[in-house]
Amino acid sequence: MTNDPLLRETYVHGHAPAVVRQHGMRTAEEAAAFLLPELSPEMRLLDVGCGPGSITVGLAERLPGGEVVAIDLSQETLAQARLDAEARGVKNLLYEYGSVYELAYPDASFDVAYAHQVFQHLTDRQAALREMLRVVKPGGLLAVRDVDWGSVTYWPPDPWLDRFVDVYEKTARGLGGEPRMGRRLRALFHEAGVSDVHVTGAVWCYATREETVTWGDSYADRLLTSSMGERQVETGLSTQAEIEAMAEAFRVWARKPDALWAFTHMAALGRKPAS
Ligand SMILES: C[S@@+](CC[C@H](N)C(=O)[O-])C[C@H]1O[C@@H](n2cnc3c(N)ncnc32)[C@H](O)[C@@H]1O
Repeated sequence: MTNDPLLRETYVHGHAPAVVRQHGMRTAEEAAAFLLPELSPEMRLLDVGCGPGSITVGLAERLPGGEVVAIDLSQETLAQARLDAEARGVKNLLYEYGSVYELAYPDASFDVAYAHQVFQHLTDRQAALREMLRVVKPGGLLAVRDVDWGSVTYWPPDPWLDRFVDVYEKTARGLGGEPRMGRRLRALFHEAGVSDVHVTGAVWCYATREETVTWGDSYADRLLTSSMGERQVETGLSTQAEIEAMAEAFRVWARKPDALWAFTHMAALGRKPAS
């Protein structure tokens, strides 16, 4: 826990290497596919909750005459993201510490505000979207993408993995988040008065040995080395022994020749009304 006033809530996954490594594999091509056709090179884009920045650099590369500002609450992750951007020679990109609830930017100062896999972790999602709307110009774009944990399908079945999905959802909700955010994005945008709302869905499907091992081991490591396991114990939803059993089940399942994991990710794109 922290006294930092910006940290109004607890990010359930934490920022251990097992988490950040997995996020660092994401790309703008995939994670912002719904937004890319709308971008033009001079735009100014805000990336909220940028994590390790692997999506962010891809966005900055598409805006050579513009700029990307990316914020997150993890100083350590931001420091690594800055080094990566430097190594890739991306200069039109600024990483700053900050919370979506209190953006340190003037009204109407961005053409686009984007958030990938962030809203599911927020306790006050309307306040967050309102703040993103504030900093976007009239007619500018709002782009938010989130998973829906209620759509998880996997094979072969394992009682510990079923238990994990159940406990994960309860833990995330107990911390004020919404693990089934994907299905609620259209409602979120409508409630905030966003116009021209268009929602699309895509499935992440892991069905090769490399993919299932990367995924299964990442969740095993998150359970054992990141705050995810601690939160489940703190909230009384699991014992430490159960956390260890879930982690082991993930590793064993991931190496089964028939292993497959899939879940749906929804993306909402809309515009700030002109007046
Ligand atoms: C699941 S990660 C997503 C990272 C990146 N967007 C991606 O998709 O790889 C969620 C990120 O949101 C950040 N976050 C959580 N609450 C936040 C807040 N109130 N303001 C800004 N960032 C926040 C976390 O620190 C974390 O890095």
